[in-house]
Amino acid sequence: MQVFRIEGGRRLSGETEVQGAKNSVLPIMCASVLCHDEVKLTRCPVISDVYAALRILTSLGCRCRLEKGCAVIDTRTLSSSDIPDMLMRLMRCSMIFMGALVARTGECTLSFPGGCELGPRPIDMHISALRQMGADVREDHGRLRCSARGGLHGGVINLSFPSVGATENIMLAASCAQGETVISNAAREPEISDLAAFMRKCGADISGDGTSRIIVRGRPATDLHGCEHRIMPDRIAAATYLCAAAATGGDVFVRGADPRDLEAVTDLLRKSGCAVYEGREGCAINAPERLRAVKTVRTGPHPGFPTDAQAIVMAALSRAEGTSIFIEDIFENRFRHVDELVRMGADIKTEGRVAVVSGVKRLSGACVEAPDLRGGAALCTAACAAEGETIITGVELIDRGYECMETSLAELGAQIKRV
Ligand code: UD1
Repeated sequence: MQVFRIEGGRRLSGETEVQGAKNSVLPIMCASVLCHDEVKLTRCPVISDVYAALRILTSLGCRCRLEKGCAVIDTRTLSSSDIPDMLMRLMRCSMIFMGALVARTGECTLSFPGGCELGPRPIDMHISALRQMGADVREDHGRLRCSARGGLHGGVINLSFPSVGATENIMLAASCAQGETVISNAAREPEISDLAAFMRKCGADISGDGTSRIIVRGRPATDLHGCEHRIMPDRIAAATYLCAAAATGGDVFVRGADPRDLEAVTDLLRKSGCAVYEGREGCAINAPERLRAVKTVRTGPHPGFPTDAQAIVMAALSRAEGTSIFIEDIFENRFRHVDELVRMGADIKTEGRVAVVSGVKRLSGACVEAPDLRGGAALCTAACAAEGETIITGVELIDRGYECMETSLAELGAQIKRV
């Protein structure tokens, strides 16, 4: 078992470079199935979820390699459309293979996906959309069998909620369907635009990404070809290092962070008393010794406050002066980091989707367990600010989304070791 051992209470200072975005590279790897060709992805983060996606692609018959942050995926040799249950459980994003496989091969068999425990994570919108596009989807002993032998067709798909994953699945399925697909109430996250940019390079006809109405004009599957694409910077990893600096009264530059994607987080950091500088090269932060509380942090679909940054910002504000209220509107059970922060001396009370964070003067090191990916990042943030030593178990959950978090934090002066 690996743990992080962090000796906290030091002001973070220095520079680190942000990795490629996990939530962009994973759907793009799924989309590569649509190209009968070779796809090259640069700035590919070296994280365990990427290895999981590579294992799935390999099991489908594709040839893949990952070297020095560059993934090369050749899907010409794809020979199966059946994803084993064990591989589906590795991550939530495995679900996005459904749209791509049905579009390319007319069928696929997979099971319910795994991923972080954030409360119920249904896939009803994914399934309903594929059915509206002409697929027959049946559940059989925990396996989902999808077929559309005659091909998929377009149509107007109204999402009841702007689900990121469902929007991505429909984009992939629609890119080779007959006719035009309009996704209304589509998710507007920047990762959706990165996926659309990748697909356009491959020859797909997609417009409207970044708005809540995405239009996809279907092309024959054989028309989609390979391309080279540089994955967008990871806005949540960038937010993590900015928050770690904020929590410690630090002074940090995150090279490569795109300020346009970070507005909800940087606005909040400014409200809490930090100076944030935004430039073409990245984002810098200069934090006061102690942050000010922020009245309300309410998560919401983009451009709202990202649920993935909720735990991390909470860790930073747990030492702020005053009381901050968090309302989690996306996932039902995304406060599992709270009990661990409380072990470190934080004063946080939760009821349902609300957490009341009364800032304390001091956090102290403790033995804590990462409850999920971003909850784990929140504990690392708190540990940098806490006095004494913190031991964090469950590091494998953090490795799902962060490329060597200990190296990035150490570049900023944190005393952190993977043991
Ligand atoms: C993606 C991100 C995840 C982020 C989340 C919300 C990836 C790989 N993951 O997850 O990091 O936290 O967006 O920004 O990109 N829902 C349904 N039925 C469905 C689909 C979703 O009820 O068929 C609900 C979910 O339970 C949740 C909400 O919609 O309450 C948002 O989920 P969604 O946007 O789909 O998140 P993911 O795509 O799973």
